[in-house]
Amino acid sequence: MAATRIDGKALAAKLKENVRAEAAVLPRKPGLAVILVGDDPASRVYVTSKRKDCEECGFYSEEYALPAETTQKQLLELVAELNGRADIDGILVQLPLPKGLDEREVLLAIDPAKDVDCFHPYNVGQLTIGTPVFQPCTPGGVMEMLREYHIDPAGKRCVVLGRSNIVGKPMALLLLHAHGTVVMCHSRTPDLKELAASADILVSAVGRTGLVTADMVKEGAVVIDVAVNRDEAGRLCGDVDYSAVAEKASYITPVPGGVGPVTRSVLMENTLAAALRHGKGALTIRLYREENTIVSSFSNRADCLTAEDAAHVFERFYTADKMRTGQSTGLGLAIVKALAERMGHTTAA
Ligand code: GUN
Repeated sequence: MAATRIDGKALAAKLKENVRAEAAVLPRKPGLAVILVGDDPASRVYVTSKRKDCEECGFYSEEYALPAETTQKQLLELVAELNGRADIDGILVQLPLPKGLDEREVLLAIDPAKDVDCFHPYNVGQLTIGTPVFQPCTPGGVMEMLREYHIDPAGKRCVVLGRSNIVGKPMALLLLHAHGTVVMCHSRTPDLKELAASADILVSAVGRTGLVTADMVKEGAVVIDVAVNRDEAGRLCGDVDYSAVAEKASYITPVPGGVGPVTRSVLMENTLAAALRHGKGALTIRLYREENTIVSSFSNRADCLTAEDAAHVFERFYTADKMRTGQSTGLGLAIVKALAERMGHTTAA
């Protein structure tokens, strides 16, 4: 039976609409700065798409297109300036950087609270121990797709092809946290074909056209193609032999129109989350529970609002115009009261 095609474009539009609606009630637009060094054409395309996403979500965005000759010092100075800017919530340095620039040092220089790529070692550490501050964008996008199509990794055999810091490693972690049994394969894996063929969920993030053939896919498997390659005719394609594999899989993602757009929506979600947590002028409310009581305080790094709570809060925002004024005290109290009301708790705010 032919597989169900997972529609990344439609899901991305839905996620961005949620982000737009949430951002619209903030007293200030979330701000994203994107730095591109050099003239890699693929990176240029990605950066342009991110600008469009920001427009759609009602974000403020800045783009820095720097020449390939930019020095490490200049790049670090720009990052430091953006770290200090109150109107910038997220900083993204497009990778790869041109030769001669030290990627590791640049990523370390980004304020972890503005690291919307989830590349800073602090955020990678938080992700690893299961308390993520940001979602890694591409793996986060894959998880959104699985959720949207009611595919639960719990107890499933999940095989990840590729071990990059951007995709393979964080992908394995997210699947593990979702209770999958995870196998990571890479260039030194001798029995990659057999392992791939054992997968209930197969994620390919290698970057080699035609790598995943139908004989490497179990009947009924879910196949997620993260790669963005070009075929001999110059057309965009992934790692997976789409038409042959679609005959065996239960679900499959296309390239283009699959993981890519959802990845960018997760970047928007991360930027919104950073804005919600970030400094003065943005919403900086901390909510936590003590016994039967919801308590609020106002500070940076607020993490305590669950998705369900947030959905309820934002629902209330839309019907209460006075809460759109940006007066944070009133807003905070309103949130606490709204939550307390729903949960039947008492309020101490
Ligand atoms: N290059 C390829 N993918 C990414 C990404 O997700 N973020 C950044 N910053 N650079 C990339």
